[in-house]
Amino acid sequence: MRTPLIAANWKMNKLVDDAVATAGALKPLVADAAGVEIVVCPVFTVLQAVGKALAGSNVALGAQNCYTKESGAFTGEISPQMLKDAGCTWVIIGHSERRQYFKESDALLNEKLHFALKSGLKVMFCIGETLDERQGGSMNDVLRRQVNEGLKGLSETDFANVAVAYEPVWAIGTGVTATPEQAEEAHAFVRGLVEAQFGKNVAEGLRIQYGGSVKPDNAAELIAKPNVDGFLVGGASLKADSFAGIIKAVC
Ligand code: 13P
Repeated sequence: MRTPLIAANWKMNKLVDDAVATAGALKPLVADAAGVEIVVCPVFTVLQAVGKALAGSNVALGAQNCYTKESGAFTGEISPQMLKDAGCTWVIIGHSERRQYFKESDALLNEKLHFALKSGLKVMFCIGETLDERQGGSMNDVLRRQVNEGLKGLSETDFANVAVAYEPVWAIGTGVTATPEQAEEAHAFVRGLVEAQFGKNVAEGLRIQYGGSVKPDNAAELIAKPNVDGFLVGGASLKADSFAGIIKAVC
């Protein structure tokens, strides 16, 4: 049985007061949520403050990106060690916005994944096709490439600390959610790719989150699908009550 993993990706939003207030409001709303794992991923500048606000709760802290080195002359970057120092246990790697706007390649993302794991962080590794790729019929090839190159070289034990987030780019921030059937089809395909590369044990244990316009009113039908093991939530995670509504729909 895979424990659902529900994560908030706040993206580049919230100054410290707003971030701390949202975390503080979320805590009591989800205090009774059983059988789920909850993570909030704010911007770097508010990590410590949000970590303090979440202390002692059932909500873990994550970051949205990290680099492949521990320290040194890498202006503007941040290391997994620094994220851990700020209280993080999770990091998101390979979000489509990183791939698209910051030109992060499969090879770089694979390097980031390995270094984050080696440094002791757990990773939500994002994949997903664009609308053009889906409509042009290359969706499966894109997912195959992202899985095979992105997860390359992981060991079976590494997978204890990895979740994959399937986020179709056309569903992110658009209000267009994948139907439960579309999500299930993609998740089953991805699980099959993982099985082919890493074996049945790894594939059956791997949590595959769905991301893309998840809201309190569509979460229940999505999580009902056998291969949907949680969510990575953008817009609807910015308010404590709507993120808590998604968590409640899963519990
Ligand atoms: P939305 O929930 O705003 O569509 O964003 C999804 C996402 O990109 C989470 O990482």
